[in-house]
Amino acid sequence: MNDLFLRACRREVVPRTPVWLMRQAGRYLPEYREIRRHHDFLAMTRLPEVAAEVTLQPVRRFGLDAAILFADILTPLAGAGIGIEFTPGPVVARPVRSGRDLEPLRRFDAAAAVPETLQTIRLLRERLEVPLIGFAGAPFTLACYLVDGKGSKDFPLTRTLLYREPELAGALFEALVDLTVKYAVAQVRAGAQAIQLFDTWAGLLAPEDFARYVRPYVARIFAALRPLDVPAIYYLNGAAPLAEIAGMGASVAAVDHRTSLAGAREALGATMAVQGNLDPMVLLGPPELVRERVAAVLAAWGGGPGHVFNVGHGLNKETPPENVAVLVEAVRKGSAE
Ligand code: CP3
Repeated sequence: MNDLFLRACRREVVPRTPVWLMRQAGRYLPEYREIRRHHDFLAMTRLPEVAAEVTLQPVRRFGLDAAILFADILTPLAGAGIGIEFTPGPVVARPVRSGRDLEPLRRFDAAAAVPETLQTIRLLRERLEVPLIGFAGAPFTLACYLVDGKGSKDFPLTRTLLYREPELAGALFEALVDLTVKYAVAQVRAGAQAIQLFDTWAGLLAPEDFARYVRPYVARIFAALRPLDVPAIYYLNGAAPLAEIAGMGASVAAVDHRTSLAGAREALGATMAVQGNLDPMVLLGPPELVRERVAAVLAAWGGGPGHVFNVGHGLNKETPPENVAVLVEAVRKGSAE
């Protein structure tokens, strides 16, 4: 069992920096596209053998140090009975408009809502020789899809809800905290060895809104996960409010490429591990550039424990798979003592 990833998350000294990549499974891989020809995305996530196979594909091809469950941040919401389609981004059939729309979220029961996802985790634990990362969307990011109904640059309907109906917004966040805790606990009980919370859209918010609408809810999720004693990773896309993140209860901060890795280490490294932060778009360039930028990320960290190599955002679907192999090799060679 290769447990470098778990050890680095615990800030233990490791012989080299572990590496995995957000969206390591997906359409940039021909073997994914081959399976995807026969099923739509949501169907793939609901077939444990298929979801397990797609999770394993990049681990097998590149020798990554961790696997991430093949599912989506909207998976538990779809399981709760919210109508969701992927075209390819998520579209919610009936966006949240009133307190009544929160009922399906409040009734969430993981074993009934996402049995296939839990079964995928069990299958993967039998087949993997690296740790399995489970994940969930953070409340604000899930609310963006539930209220605006689809992806957006600035999620105007969600922002309107925050500023004009703060009570309903609060009730929505509360319901999402409870659902997410149940979902994450069920993943860990099924075998997930770490949990990453994706807060893709929290970086849109002004500091006072982050402090009010993000921080307390995320902190409650991490507090509830603490007794499980698995690495708890908080990912935020955009300039990271590092001082806030330090106090939210995660054990690993995942930062994107607009955040200085040296700065993140300085602000958080004494108490948290840091994951990141190569710009995934660099992988669209030539292999020499990939090697150069991997070296720059390792240099920005500056050696020593507590770093997990990753991209700052999910891999683009135009990524040449050969460049992912170049990246992994450059991390292995560049970080070995
Ligand atoms: O390999 C992995 O990272 C694990 C699986 C995973 C997916 N989505 C699969 C997926 C994970 C961890 C996610 C998280 C996710 N999903 C996030 C947070 C991370 C981020 O990207 O910031 C968000 C915001 C979503 C919502 C979502 N799902 C969008 C916006 C899209 C469309 C955009 C796109 O890249 O296609 C999806 C669809 C989706 N989720 C695909 C995959 C592999 C593409 C599905 C297809 O085959 O058509």
